[in-house]
Amino acid sequence: MRHFIKLEDFSKKQIQELIDLSFDYKNNTNIPKLKNKICALLFLENSTRTLNSFQVACNRLGIFPLYSPANSSSLSKGETLADTVATLAAIGANYLVLRHPDNDICDILRATVGNQISIINAGSGAAHHPTQALLDLMTIYENKKTWSGLKIAIAGDIKHSRVASSLIAGLNIMGDNKINLIAPEQCKLEFAQYNNIEYFTDLGDGIDNADVIVMLRIQKERFAADGLMDGYNAWQLTAGKLARAKDDVIIMHPGPVNRDVEIAGDLVEHSKSRILQQVQNGVYCRMSVLVSLGV
Ligand code: NCD
Repeated sequence: MRHFIKLEDFSKKQIQELIDLSFDYKNNTNIPKLKNKICALLFLENSTRTLNSFQVACNRLGIFPLYSPANSSSLSKGETLADTVATLAAIGANYLVLRHPDNDICDILRATVGNQISIINAGSGAAHHPTQALLDLMTIYENKKTWSGLKIAIAGDIKHSRVASSLIAGLNIMGDNKINLIAPEQCKLEFAQYNNIEYFTDLGDGIDNADVIVMLRIQKERFAADGLMDGYNAWQLTAGKLARAKDDVIIMHPGPVNRDVEIAGDLVEHSKSRILQQVQNGVYCRMSVLVSLGV
């Protein structure tokens, strides 16, 4: 494994190994030291969880994190991204953790500078967010102990969410589950390649008898969402609607949460919420990706 660009590049066995390793790290077992390794972190979109958890993952592994704020790097002086990455590799960076608005940027860089540095996709456009999908899969497995027979409801801005597309890909690699997608018309996206997906516009119907509910933020930075926000309460997860899901349902959300928009604020701290467990698991999953790239 040289790069970590999208989950679709990996087999069920490889993803299972990454998750097993993440559980080891969570149990504080077998944590290696990768001294003398350097990890460049280049974020061309905002981030709290992903950026900081990569930095903490580096710290736990003894890797030196080299963070270049995008607006003060030479990209703002007209340097191409490939030249910036080649420069970071020449300085000694072994890994590039990249967040970028273009869907396919990591594949483009793999073709140009991929022999100089290991590329880890920390979110590309609306298409891929493989380390998020890994931590989501880990959290589902931690709580449900199975990869099959679950009803997983994903609700909100599916169309512009790289979290949704990567998680759906990951779930379909790992097992055989029913996936309900609930979205208003502007946020709907059909995944013709999978036949285990059902589409809903009513949130209550979509989460009926669900084992897992994943709520998503409206990606206002990716489309003109103005008209949508007025009636958005209809798509908000509330305690009343939650009652239709299974008793042992878990609530997930990749964050950042917009309280009282996609989810009632008090559900964030609900006993069924696993939102901060996802954040914690993100550190362990990012550690396992860094270790498994074996640079
Ligand atoms: C997500 C992202 O950046 O795609 N955040 C994250 O990485 N946890 C989701 C979002 O921004 O809504």
